[in-house]
Amino acid sequence: MTARIGIAGCGFIGTVHSHVLARVAKAGLVDAVVTATHDVDETRAAKVASQHGAEAYKDLDSFLDAVDAVWVCTWTAAHEPVVAAAVARGLAVFCEKPLAPTFDGCKRVAGLLASVPHQVGLVLRYAPVFRAAAEAVASGQYGRVLACVMRDDQYFPTQGQYGSDWRSDVAKSGGGTLLEHSIHDVDVLSWILGAPTSVRAEVSNRFGYLGIDDVAVLTLGYPEGVHATLLSVWHQVLTRESSRRLEIFCEQAFIWADDDYLGPLHVETSDGASMIAAELPTWAAQLGVPPEHAASVAQYAEPSIAFLRALAAKGSAATGSPDALTALHAHRIVDAAYRSAATGGASVPIVD
Ligand SMILES: NC(=O)c1ccc[n+]([C@@H]2O[C@H](COP(=O)([O-])OP(=O)(O)OC[C@H]3O[C@@H](n4cnc5c(N)ncnc54)[C@H](O)[C@@H]3O)[C@@H](O)[C@H]2O)c1
Repeated sequence: MTARIGIAGCGFIGTVHSHVLARVAKAGLVDAVVTATHDVDETRAAKVASQHGAEAYKDLDSFLDAVDAVWVCTWTAAHEPVVAAAVARGLAVFCEKPLAPTFDGCKRVAGLLASVPHQVGLVLRYAPVFRAAAEAVASGQYGRVLACVMRDDQYFPTQGQYGSDWRSDVAKSGGGTLLEHSIHDVDVLSWILGAPTSVRAEVSNRFGYLGIDDVAVLTLGYPEGVHATLLSVWHQVLTRESSRRLEIFCEQAFIWADDDYLGPLHVETSDGASMIAAELPTWAAQLGVPPEHAASVAQYAEPSIAFLRALAAKGSAATGSPDALTALHAHRIVDAAYRSAATGGASVPIVD
């Protein structure tokens, strides 16, 4: 049966998801249709609805009554009430990251999500370049990991394509570049390196928004003396939307990437340099998007396809990936990092 999808929160990412969902459905990759929208800003809900022949609902309850699955794309502070209402109806939920502004809120949202088919929008889990990095490390062929560096920079996202006021309001966002953006990086580092056991962190606030870190520096400790550093920066270089560089030093290889979707992943060993090049999924050609947009559409399409296929195959027994527990693990690290920063950078243990 065709899954009726509702988009809650029709801003930047809600609009992106709605169009990606429409494209994967039109290509016959999933049996689903965007039938309903909801936003506290009624004009936004109406605009997205009109693009899909869907109905815009002013009232959350009526909206939820009309769908089978909800994409929760509100600003972060509104994830919890929308998820709670959706879960009370047993609906499937795709919840954007971060789960909530506070770690306590994240625990509540994760607990709610655990009772329904769900998936969290940590979309870098679907990036071929990080999958290749995780496989290269896990294979053991390059020896033990010694150290890792991740740099993530983005222009301050109250402007440009994000154009959002809430990202400078800690009550709605919960934090700045570390929580709002680099929760992705913290998750990717856990994927590649395993669970860190401690963190030391410092954050800065250079643009003056209370509680909104625009520079965060983390040193993550792992068993057996492995260390990773994460530098996360929000700047004012409007030509740099979101850019990541990953460097992993293994005993027998230097592994690095400058692109956070297709890579390539570079591997340098004593025998020379090579590249692991990733390609777009074969179905990407069916989406009918111009080549220059194919990668950015595919990186949101793949997680949505995976979730909808799981729902179609298993119904209420479906589990999406990454799930709420995976997200909560990343949130626990971010929470420990903020606690470390509050003490001026003391080492804080991370206990799952
Ligand atoms: N996974 C990703 O790659 C990714 C990318 C961008 C944003 N996000 C996340 O998605 C969420 C939204 O970000 P955005 O950039 O789309 O922000 P946005 O400001 O463009 O859109 C948020 C929308 O939510 C609406 N809203 C707020 N409270 C609501 C409520 N209670 N009910 C219904 N609608 C409500 C707002 O009116 C607004 O239209 C954030 O949590 C953000 O961190 C994830």
